[in-house]
Amino acid sequence: MTRAQITELLQPWIGRIHDETLREKVITCWETALGRSSYSTVADLDAMPFTLLADTRGVSFVEHTLAVTAGAVGLAQAQGSHYRQMPYEVNMDRLIAGGLLHDVGKILEIEPDGKGGHRKSRNGYCMRHPISGAALASEAGMPEEVINCIACHAKEGEGRPQVIETVLIHQADYATFDPLVMMAKGTLIL
Ligand SMILES: [Fe+2]
Repeated sequence: MTRAQITELLQPWIGRIHDETLREKVITCWETALGRSSYSTVADLDAMPFTLLADTRGVSFVEHTLAVTAGAVGLAQAQGSHYRQMPYEVNMDRLIAGGLLHDVGKILEIEPDGKGGHRKSRNGYCMRHPISGAALASEAGMPEEVINCIACHAKEGEGRPQVIETVLIHQADYATFDPLVMMAKGTLIL
């Protein structure tokens, strides 16, 4: 997949990262991950579920990534617009980059099973996506704070030091994941 295609997939959020170097590094992470995966077209990636841990009911990996980024930005804006004084500063470029990259390791963790479905890859058995994603970001020269967003957004980060952007991404991520798990368990009241 080309950098232009990746940029298109990640709109509108990628365009809202002001720091051009950071923006390019986000695209590089996706490009590297895709280059090492068997997803070669936009359609391949569109068919990828965002998790194998729950029935995603058609929510794709890319949709999830954009929704989590939007949710994290919304959480930052909610505080920024209603607190008289923000107790901490949210770095919006870091938040958007972290949101777009929090699950980039899943491109390596989840692979097509050749029968129209998806399964955990060998890479996925060796490490979960927060680890592979952090490695991809490190390789691309991402700032350590963005790596914290990736490495610590899920259970690996529980009780660990986190930048504020990681906290917001984590909450937005679980707000999209938990209802699907609850649906599977029958505990989401519909
Ligand atoms: Fe996620």
